[in-house]
Amino acid sequence: MEKLQRLFHGYRSIGFMLVMGVIMGVVYFCGDNSGIRFDVIGEAKMADDYSFEGCDLFNGSWVYDNKSRPLYREKECSFMADDYACQKFGRKDSEYQFWRWQPHGCDLPRFNGTALLEKLRDKRVVFVGDSLGKNHWVSLLCLIDSWIPEPSHKVAEWHGSLITFRASEFNASIDFYWEPLLVESNCDDPVHHRVHDRIMKIESIERHAKQWIDADVLIFDSYTWWLEPNMTLLWGSFENPNRTSIESGRVRRYEMALKTWSNWLDTHLNRNKTKMFFISLSPDHKEGGDWGKTKGENCFNETEPIMEQGYWGKGTDTDLMRSAQSIVQDLEKKGLEIELLNITQLSQYRKDGHPSIYKRHWVPPTESELANPIPYSDCTHWCLPGVPDVWNEILYTYIRYKL
Ligand SMILES: *[C@@H]1O[C@H](CO)[C@@H](O)[C@H](O)[C@H]1NC(C)=O
Ligand SMILES: *[C@@H]1O[C@H](CO)[C@@H](O)[C@H](O)[C@H]1NC(C)=O
Ligand SMILES: *[C@@H]1O[C@H](CO)[C@@H](O)[C@H](O)[C@H]1NC(C)=O
Ligand SMILES: *[C@@H]1O[C@H](CO)[C@@H](O)[C@H](O)[C@H]1NC(C)=O
Ligand SMILES: *[C@@H]1O[C@H](CO)[C@@H](O)[C@H](O)[C@H]1NC(C)=O
Ligand SMILES: *[C@@H]1O[C@H](CO)[C@@H](O)[C@H](O)[C@H]1NC(C)=O
Ligand SMILES: *[C@@H]1O[C@H](CO)[C@@H](O)[C@H](O)[C@H]1NC(C)=O
Ligand SMILES: *[C@@H]1O[C@H](CO)[C@@H](O)[C@H](O)[C@H]1NC(C)=O
Ligand SMILES: *[C@@H]1O[C@H](CO)[C@@H](O)[C@H](O)[C@H]1NC(C)=O
Repeated sequence: MEKLQRLFHGYRSIGFMLVMGVIMGVVYFCGDNSGIRFDVIGEAKMADDYSFEGCDLFNGSWVYDNKSRPLYREKECSFMADDYACQKFGRKDSEYQFWRWQPHGCDLPRFNGTALLEKLRDKRVVFVGDSLGKNHWVSLLCLIDSWIPEPSHKVAEWHGSLITFRASEFNASIDFYWEPLLVESNCDDPVHHRVHDRIMKIESIERHAKQWIDADVLIFDSYTWWLEPNMTLLWGSFENPNRTSIESGRVRRYEMALKTWSNWLDTHLNRNKTKMFFISLSPDHKEGGDWGKTKGENCFNETEPIMEQGYWGKGTDTDLMRSAQSIVQDLEKKGLEIELLNITQLSQYRKDGHPSIYKRHWVPPTESELANPIPYSDCTHWCLPGVPDVWNEILYTYIRYKL
């Protein structure tokens, strides 16, 4: 429990706030039918025959829409974590919460937590990956939260690398499993993983994989941890390695790990049961020069998205993205059901979506850091409500209308 509180610093499991959240949620959802093209009535009518065949959900633009967004309030989410609670930590502007993703060729259906949980009845979903996977998972819990009014019907618990969430009325679980490099590594401690020299057992995944291999839906992500210049690859055990090598080729080591991962899936996954998603890389905004700021500046003090269609940050590693794409395609060819959710481009536009200095920092800032906050800013994760909500609206669309 103590650990759990460390995770959900803002976690309020009881009382008034939650009840208020639900009441306001009801008012909000009933009153809201203007300013969006896919309103509540429209969705109810076409609930079961919505189709996005032929529509690229990932190609579109951000539309300012303070009538239908955000889909929940930061303070009202029972599962909010201090890493994403930007208003709580002093962010003054709130426009970043009011952008809706509009694909060019179609509308996204409006998120309905009950419909999602009905689809997931008696099922287990696991998000497997790094802190961006956790960002994504917390966003989904926040989206679902107001659809489960009774606090005792939604419970999150921490068991080592695994955090479980259960919606008991639906006998559904939505879990997060910490596994930042997918293969075993010295960064696997869910709390203390800020290690300088990253060492991975490049061919070992079993210790992790047996925790999630039985799931019905698996959602993977792994990218930022690979950007380190040098990493040590190891064969054998940590205590007794029979071979090690320092590998600075990003693509090479990434592909080796993804191969270990995909071989494991190919051999052990129940193809009749489990559907998978791979989340393409989540871009950061650490280099302001990329979008015309002075070199050395970053996402700090950004309040608006980039409007240039097709904008692409120079630091976004397309080689890693292509490797993941081709390994995912190979898995599909082997008869596994896996979908690549290509959220990179849509997230690129959102230089305004990061916490920068407005989050709980694990190491308190020094005087000089406070005087110069730019290098101290988090331009990797995302404030909630925010960008990961859209990843979830897309995931929702796939789970509800395609699985
Ligand atoms: C996105 O859609 C626009 C308009 O339909 C089209 O011109 C463009 O080629 C598409 N981009 C991609 C990457 O598919
Ligand atoms: C929504 O945005 C418009 C345009 O910026 C503004 O005039 C209006 O007051 C906003 N409404 C709310 C409820 O914030
Ligand atoms: C959400 O989905 C449930 C189950 O499909 C349906 O009964 C309910 O009317 C939907 N709610 C809204 C607001 O669309
Ligand atoms: C709950 O779901 C699990 C699968 O996740 C299933 O094995 C179990 O039988 C279900 N329990 C009930 C009471 O339906
Ligand atoms: C990475 O390793 C190479 C040689 O293996 C070394 O020359 C280089 O200094 C290392 N870089 C860092 C940042 O440690
Ligand atoms: C390294 O050790 C592992 C387990 O101890 C063993 O399976 C593997 O064959 C060894 N590899 C080499 C190259 O000796
Ligand atoms: C999967 O389904 C196929 C065809 O329906 C069946 O032959 C096979 O035994 C099933 N495999 C498992 C592991 O359930
Ligand atoms: C933030 O940006 C505004 C203009 O958009 C500027 O006036 C202000 O000085 C900036 N603040 C800091 C701390 O850089
Ligand atoms: C993902 O999107 C990017 C840019 O929008 C595009 O270049 C890439 O081909 C897409 N990948 C897939 C598998 O659709």
